[in-house]
Amino acid sequence: MHIHRYESTFLWLSGMMLVVFAGAILISVFGLGVQLPTQVDQVAPADVETEPGFDNPGVREVYPGHYEAYIVAQTWQFTPARIDIPAGSEVTFFVTSKDVIHGFKVFDTNINIMIIPGQISEVTHTFNEPGEFQFYCHEYCGSAHHTMTGVINITGGE
Ligand code: CUA
Repeated sequence: MHIHRYESTFLWLSGMMLVVFAGAILISVFGLGVQLPTQVDQVAPADVETEPGFDNPGVREVYPGHYEAYIVAQTWQFTPARIDIPAGSEVTFFVTSKDVIHGFKVFDTNINIMIIPGQISEVTHTFNEPGEFQFYCHEYCGSAHHTMTGVINITGGE
């Protein structure tokens, strides 16, 4: 069967594009470590205050250089709204909501998750550079949604 040269060229290019796209996914997952934030557990909104970790929201050092941050979202605030950790730290965030759907987006990072009532979401990030990283709610959650913010302060590192 004769295939026109243009047609075979476009078939070949289309095939190569599929290989490139699949390669980009494999490189981002296994080379760059890009992961979707995962739902790790469930907790009823009414039970957040007694759930281990969320009963005392905040940041704790698990071992040198690695921290866990338990953050509770509710209309219209994050608890805690300020997190201080030294530069070079790897932080695993556990986030849940006491009421409605909120969002958790940290500027200048890949952290961008929905906070769904009943779910505990987990996302990990390493903060290498000192500075202030604002975070905010990016799911509309009511009249004061725009005030629902916080900051991660990365200190020192010299
Ligand atoms: Cu919480 Cu918008």
